[in-house]
This record gives sequence, C-alpha cells and structure tokens, in this order.
Amino acid sequence: MADGTQYDVVILGAGSGGYACALRCAQLGLKVAMVEKDKVGGTCLHYGCIPTKALLHAAAVADEVNHGAAVGVNATLDAIDMPAVNKYKDSVVAGLYKGLQGLVGHAAIDVVEGEGKLVAADTVEVAGQRLTGKFVVLATGSYPRSLPGLEIGGRVMTSLEALSLDHVPASAIVIGGSVIGVEFASVWKSFGTDVTIIEALPHLVPLEDDILSKGLERAFRKRKIDFKLNARFEAVTQDENGVDVTLEGGDTLQAEILLVAVGRGPSSQGFGFEEAGITMDRGWVPTDERLRTSVSNVFAIGDLVPGLQLAHRGFAHGIFVAEEIAGQSPMPVIDSGIPRVTYCEPEIASVGLTEKQAVEKYGEVDTYEYNLAGNGKSKILGTAGVVKYVREKDGPVVGVHMMGTRMGEQVGEASLIVNWDAYPEDVAQFIHPHPTQNESLGEAALALAGKPLHSHN
Ligand code: NAI
Repeated sequence: MADGTQYDVVILGAGSGGYACALRCAQLGLKVAMVEKDKVGGTCLHYGCIPTKALLHAAAVADEVNHGAAVGVNATLDAIDMPAVNKYKDSVVAGLYKGLQGLVGHAAIDVVEGEGKLVAADTVEVAGQRLTGKFVVLATGSYPRSLPGLEIGGRVMTSLEALSLDHVPASAIVIGGSVIGVEFASVWKSFGTDVTIIEALPHLVPLEDDILSKGLERAFRKRKIDFKLNARFEAVTQDENGVDVTLEGGDTLQAEILLVAVGRGPSSQGFGFEEAGITMDRGWVPTDERLRTSVSNVFAIGDLVPGLQLAHRGFAHGIFVAEEIAGQSPMPVIDSGIPRVTYCEPEIASVGLTEKQAVEKYGEVDTYEYNLAGNGKSKILGTAGVVKYVREKDGPVVGVHMMGTRMGEQVGEASLIVNWDAYPEDVAQFIHPHPTQNESLGEAALALAGKPLHSHN
C-alpha cells in the first residue's frame, strides 16, 4: 500500500457538501484532498436537483402550450419527445458539470478518483493509496430508499431510474406524497400521464404548513392528479403490461410504472465509519452543532447528518466545516433557518416554523394569509396561491409559507426576513416593485403591520 501525502483535510465524497468544503478549504490555504467514486457534483448535479428541475421546466413549457388559448395564443401540443427532453436535460447537467470541473480543477484541490474507505480516524484508503488528514470530513450523501419487500427493478423505480425514462408513461403510481413524489407527479401530469399518489400520512407534503398541504391538494385536484391520503402501500407485482399495487386494506391499483419516493437513506455502509469509532444512528452520522462526529477530528456534513436533505444545506455545511477547521469560528448552520422549495406546479416554498410549530414554541402567534388573487403579476400568470406569514405575537416573523407558479423564486427574501428576525413593520417600509410576484411579500407585511394596500386586514 503506497503512503499518500499528509493533508490538512481529507474529504470523502464530492457532492454539494464535499466540493463546497474542498473549495473553501483551498481558498483558506488548507491542503485538501477530495475522494469521489463517481462524479464531482454528486446527487444534486447528476441525479437530483438539476436534472429534475430541467424536467420540470420542460413540463412548464408543455403547460404553457396547453394553456396558450387562455391568453389568445392558440397552440396545440404535438408530442413530448422524451429523447429530446433528456438531451436538453443532459446538456444542462453537462454544462454545469464542465463548469464545476473547471472550478475544482483551478483550485488547489487533489481530487482522487475511487471509492474511499476510512481505515483509521485520520486515514482514507482509496485506489491503493492512503491519504492522511489532520481532519477528515465525511460527505458521502444519501441514496433513494425503498420499503421492506419492495424490490426496485423493471417497472418499479426510484427517482434515479425515473429521471431517464425514454418515453412518457401512460400511467404512473407514486408511493410517497412528499417532495420527490409531488415533483415527479407534476412533471408526468404535464406530459400527459395519469398519475396517482399514495401517501401514508393525512396530507401531501406533510412536513409543510397546513396551508401549503391543503393548497397543493386543491391545485392537484384541479390538475386531475389523483392522490390517496392515509393510504399505505402493501405489495406490488409486475408483468409485461404494468404494475399491480395493493394497499393496506385491500384496494388495488394498476399502472404502467411505479415510482418509489419514500425518502432517502444515508449512504454510509461499508465505508469503515463504525470501525473507525464513529457513533452512528441507523446509518446516519449524528454530529454536534459544529458538525463534529463522536471522533473529534472527524466532521460529517450534508445528507449523512440527520436533518433536512437539501443541497444548499450541504453547501452551507461544507463551508462551515472548512472555516471551522481554519479557526474562523463560523456561525452554525441551523436547519430551521434553511429555505425549502418544492418545484411542482404550483411551486411551494417555505422557511422557518409552520404555524403549529410556532404555537408550540411561542404560545401565541399572529398569522396573515395574503391571497395571490390580489397580486397583479400572479393574475397575469393565471396562478392561484398564497403567502402566509407567521409571527410571534407582536414579535418578529418566524415562518413564511408560499404557494403559486414561480413562487419558489421568492423564498430568498422570505429567508432574509426570518433569519434576520424582521418584524412585519420592518418589511412593510421597504418598497416592493409593482407588478411582481415579490410584491406579495410586501403586501402580506403591510397587512400584518395593520396597513393593508391590496388586501383586507
Ligand atoms: P420524504 O422523506 O420527504 O417523504 C417520503 C414520503 O413517503 C412521506 O410523506 C411518507 O409519509 C411517505 N411514505 C413512507 N412510507 C410510505 C408507505 N408505505 N406508503 C405510502 N407512503 C409512504 O422523501 P422524498 O420525497 O423521497 O425526498 C427525499 C429527500 O430528498 C427529502 O429530504 C427531500 O427534501 C429531498 N429532496 C428535495 C428536493 C427539493 O428541495 N426540491 C427535491 C427532491 C428531493
């Protein structure tokens, strides 16, 4: 076994968390190696955020064509050419991948290809060499999980396989009505598929504020996306014609394909974490607030750490750990301040506490729901939707929840409001440009501050 170089930091995994950490380490003058068995960019760039959002954009274009007549642009949708859609999607990924390789290549980062294994708390073994680091950062991410007895293959797939379908399925059943489930349901419906979602909990997107769950259910009903709530998957069989799904209680459903979207599990098996003395919890790697594992020179970041599984959390974790190692005492990354966007149609976006969580935490809260029917730009786009603020009684805004076509883009301001503990009165005094969807955030603040403009108090 060749002895590799001694590094300040060895990072295992080059996804959103890993590469952000490596880039920041290099900027800070730390000697850094990054080990990757697949492609720099990880799930987000190659199998997650970016390709799915490209599909969702193609879906939005199909929707525009289908609804053109409503604004006097008569058009008919000829066909969805899936190979061409995939080509477009792949070209977006390829362009970003090239850019990222350039960034990483120009930084002082040793990228080592191959599957790394932690063989000691300070040593990663990869492709016949040992890389030793004063600090090791675990950033191995997550994988699409299935259910006991539910085997992936053929017509039964996870998001990974669903991303590269070469045709539009006539019908699809989606198990899991959370983020991945509703995004794929939305794409497929826009492409002409009959979709049924099976969700075990009482609502779609069950982690969101009720106003978003109920609003999305209303919107999906209108779009004729079927969903069954409080419904649990029991079994599936498949043959050359399709899948046969049985629910607990005996109901059965048939479709061409089945998408399993029941969460993502930690990608941590066989990498030597436990053997190196790292405390694990059902495969996850718990850390303290400063992202240290139970072994003090080993950090863990991104999806591997219990909490929100979001690329931008991974970026933030990676930057945090690099700065922590460099002795800069950065502010910890707190999950409750991380903005969340689900890119189905209509989009939903939120940051901070739901109303229920805020009541639990603060007792008394004030809320305001601004209906997008009063927002000029949303009216032009023809979208229904809402902006809901939750504030601590007479205090700052602690949660913002939004729904509507394109409303995901508004979460940046919502995030500043919540994370800077802004009062509605603070937000109300800033001018929001007219006519934009952004204006709806200003209108909601004006109303909550007791001086509504295009709404009632
Ligand atoms: P999830 O953990 O968010 O939701 C899984 C859903 O499946 C839950 O609603 C659960 O109740 C349901 N479920 C579980 N077992 C079931 C059963 N037997 N029958 C019926 N329903 C069942 O997982 P999801 O949607 O797969 O996403 C994985 C992760 O990826 C999430 O953390 C998500 O935030 C992240 N992600 C984020 C995106 C974004 O930010 N736009 C896009 C895609 C994924």
